[in-house]
Amino acid sequence: MNKTYTDLCDILGVRYPIIQGAMAWVATAELSSAVSNAGGLGILSPVTTRGLVEEIEISKRLTKNPFGVNIPVMSPNSDEVVKIVISEEIPIVTTSVGDPNKFTSILQREGIKVIHVVTNIKHAKKAEYAGVDAVVAMGTEAGGHVGREEITTSVLVQNIVDNVKIPVIAAGGIINSDNLLSVFTLGAEGVQCGTRFIATEECIAHKNYKRAIINAETDSTKIIARDIVPARVVKNKFSEWF
Ligand SMILES: Cc1cc2nc3c(=O)[nH]c(=O)nc-3n(C[C@H](O)[C@H](O)[C@H](O)COP(=O)(O)O)c2cc1C
Repeated sequence: MNKTYTDLCDILGVRYPIIQGAMAWVATAELSSAVSNAGGLGILSPVTTRGLVEEIEISKRLTKNPFGVNIPVMSPNSDEVVKIVISEEIPIVTTSVGDPNKFTSILQREGIKVIHVVTNIKHAKKAEYAGVDAVVAMGTEAGGHVGREEITTSVLVQNIVDNVKIPVIAAGGIINSDNLLSVFTLGAEGVQCGTRFIATEECIAHKNYKRAIINAETDSTKIIARDIVPARVVKNKFSEWF
């Protein structure tokens, strides 16, 4: 591998500190292996129509570079996903939605790097205490499920950088190199992007979904289901129900 850009790259074994975040239903082998082939880190979602084992099999054919798998800790089949990532010798896992203590040491004993996704400082400290290798600080700009606290990415990143000693990866509203540089000035060592990667040829998302992202203005999204599981979505007829 040629020159890398941050210590995080060396931890993950990638050239660029750019992670394609897991996205249920759309982070399939085609997308994640394209990102890994380009020198970033692709992350597979365990939630796809083909299922995780097949996604991993296809990914291993499509890339020789590292790729990861996401484990939503509270999901009913998370124990099964842990068994699969260990037996398939996946080098990196992102854990989200749940207690970082549940799987971190089990995975690390197998040589797997663990990155935990957090949306507030308390959870970042808890993840560091659990021994994770890095945290993703995901601000309220993010697509999909967001933290109840609705902290913006810049505020969250800066405060988490000040409160933990492990590498911090910024997520939420990062779509280009300007955004990347802005979070690096706050102390982040990497970025995790989701929505931007949906609007790519390699993503299996429907073309209307991609078009909605590309055509989106600054006020085209809203947070729904604040009382249950808050999520940022594109404003449309469905989101009007909430
Ligand atoms: C459609 C969608 C589904 C997502 N599903 C997951 C998921 O299953 N697990 C997870 O950890 N993060 C999930 N995320 C969050 C992304 O991994 C990433 O952190 C987030 O999209 C970053 O913000 P951005 O969309 O502004 O780039 C999802 C995001 C989107 C947009």
